[in-house]
Amino acid sequence: MNNFEFYNPTNLIFGTGQIQKLAVLIPKNSKILLVYGGGSIFNNGIYSKVKEALNDFEIIEFGGIEPNPNFETLIKAVAITQEEKINFILAVGGGSVIDGAKFISAAAHFEGNPIEILQKRILFKDVSKVIPFGTVLTLPATGSEMNSGAVVTIAATQEKLTLGGSALFPKFSICDPTVIASLPKRQLQNGVIDAYVHVLEQYLTYPHEGYLQDRIAEGILETLIQVGPSVVEKPKDYALASNFMWSCTMALNGLIQKGVPSDWATHMIGHELTALFGIDHARTLAIIGPNLYRVMFETKKQKLAQYGKRIFNLSGSEDEIANDAINKTIAFFKIMGMPTQLSECEKNFDKTADFIVNRFAERGWTALGEKQNITLEKVKSIVEMSY
Ligand code: NZQ
Ligand code: ZN
Repeated sequence: MNNFEFYNPTNLIFGTGQIQKLAVLIPKNSKILLVYGGGSIFNNGIYSKVKEALNDFEIIEFGGIEPNPNFETLIKAVAITQEEKINFILAVGGGSVIDGAKFISAAAHFEGNPIEILQKRILFKDVSKVIPFGTVLTLPATGSEMNSGAVVTIAATQEKLTLGGSALFPKFSICDPTVIASLPKRQLQNGVIDAYVHVLEQYLTYPHEGYLQDRIAEGILETLIQVGPSVVEKPKDYALASNFMWSCTMALNGLIQKGVPSDWATHMIGHELTALFGIDHARTLAIIGPNLYRVMFETKKQKLAQYGKRIFNLSGSEDEIANDAINKTIAFFKIMGMPTQLSECEKNFDKTADFIVNRFAERGWTALGEKQNITLEKVKSIVEMSY
């Protein structure tokens, strides 16, 4: 197993009725920027619960953070944060709102042009240089509630770029599984598949000595397969909702990637499909992932075979099991309502592969994946196979 440090300071508060704890979680005398998205929190009652809990605090609200949060929107919140001398940010929403809060937290005291945070992938390691923030999660999917990464879109250039660093973990996250009752079916499906692919990014690499990491990863995959289809139909079922929410957090809070290789190329290519066509994040992963496993078959086949045996009980030769495992993955994506080809979402896509390859080349991303052997030529094949 590779050496590792496991640092995760987020206080994760899980279960029903926990929103009222906000009053003790946020330092007294904080001036809070409450950030949220398009308004779902008003319809499902989460906003009133949050406001009730924070009765004694001074709060300024900033709404309208869109799915795949835009730099252009967030920069307005940065200005308010600076003008109003905000010293705590509370994100109430899904991955987009939480990622937005991470950007605001990082940009508020940033010396320089904040767009460089994204363009130069600046890492934030000093907690004294960011504004502390907490979250009330309303959509299990991204794991953003317990990790230090974020993804922000620059609308002007249609680019979706990342930021992060150890200073950008939430101070706390309140994860109440009952909040998923108001989620549209499509978002529930997206959440299951985003978490599932997060595990695959960290698991479908090559054999290593992280036996425990593999077993935990497999446990998350099995749980998502077990609860995913039913939670979409019965989001009010607490057993389903709680296991779904906890699986999503565990899929991307750092634990399963410690001491082992990871890939992330499906995400990097998928982000381009969202930036270009506005396709939901999880859907881009369902489109790209299986084709990436096909193109990178020789690199990944041993782990694909392990996955096929342990998750789907497949038998046969290594190559057969590995191939069947890809087919089983596609079948699960389809059960979860995902498109698995770009043509299911878009009509004009014939130049997409060249566009993505040129972009990666401009950014100097010439080798991706756990073995850095996903060359630009392979990226082109993966995207073309996904048409
Ligand atoms: O905007 P509101 O009104 O809140 O509505 C949202 C939005 O329309 C709605 N929603 C959220 N909670 C709800 C609800 N509707 C009803 N009831 C509720 N309880 O759902 C819609 C989608 O929300 P969004 O936050 O965009 O979804 P998600 O959580 O899937 O986040 C996606 C974003 O996270 C990034 C993605 O790239 C994308 O930008 N990711 C962040 C990661 C991270 N920080 O670690 C990792 C992921 O791989 C991912 O890249
Ligand atoms: Zn993801």
